[in-house]
Amino acid sequence: MSADRVHTPARLAVLASGGGSNLGALFAHFDAMPQTAQVVLVLSDKASAGALTRARERNVADAVIDHRDGAALVALLQAHAVELIVLAGYLKLLPAEVVRAYPGRVINVHPALLPAFGGHGMYGRHVHAAVVASGVRVTGVTVHFVDEAYDRGAIIAQWPVPVFPTDTADDVAARVLRVEHRLLPLVVQRIASGHVALDGDGRVRGVVPVPAAGRADEFVLPLFDVDASTLPSA
Ligand code: GRF
Repeated sequence: MSADRVHTPARLAVLASGGGSNLGALFAHFDAMPQTAQVVLVLSDKASAGALTRARERNVADAVIDHRDGAALVALLQAHAVELIVLAGYLKLLPAEVVRAYPGRVINVHPALLPAFGGHGMYGRHVHAAVVASGVRVTGVTVHFVDEAYDRGAIIAQWPVPVFPTDTADDVAARVLRVEHRLLPLVVQRIASGHVALDGDGRVRGVVPVPAAGRADEFVLPLFDVDASTLPSA
């Protein structure tokens, strides 16, 4: 977090339009390191979003927002002293005034290796259907800073996920989602602890270390869902 951060732990707002499994992964991750970051606000454009239920179960402040009302959104974020905004399965474009009010403080997780399979209309299942239709053999997860276009901000981290010939879009979605649940909290942790930031020139400073390569089975299994016994000996 940049020098003007005022809280330890970092105060997170999570925006989600759906079930909120990524929110659940963030809750679980920071339960183990409460001194690093905490989710203080959960917002959705959908009153029926499961993410709001997850917030209420934990007595975390939640609200349904008008996704077009940037001024109201900024006021709500400021009222909760939010320092980092995480778009986790949020399907609307964030108003420009929010991006401007929080430079280098808004990130998004996208279920593909941007710039491939990104941009307008590429969300949720549409992404994985396009991946299967394209015949690519590797997709993955991208976490990036958000600017005023959909999926164009500076990339922070990416992890690969294999696509097998027999895969359906749902097979790929499930395999990718598991990696999202590992990568997004790691990125938030590294930003909250000041190891990763967006420089003034729009470049990302710092890296997000993937699990120790020494334990190939741990590193590979979550990415490739293969039986460890089939791995080449290290
Ligand atoms: C999933 O398609 C995920 O890939 C994307 O948003 C969708 C819902 O995620 N990031 P969640 O379960 O609501 O976190």
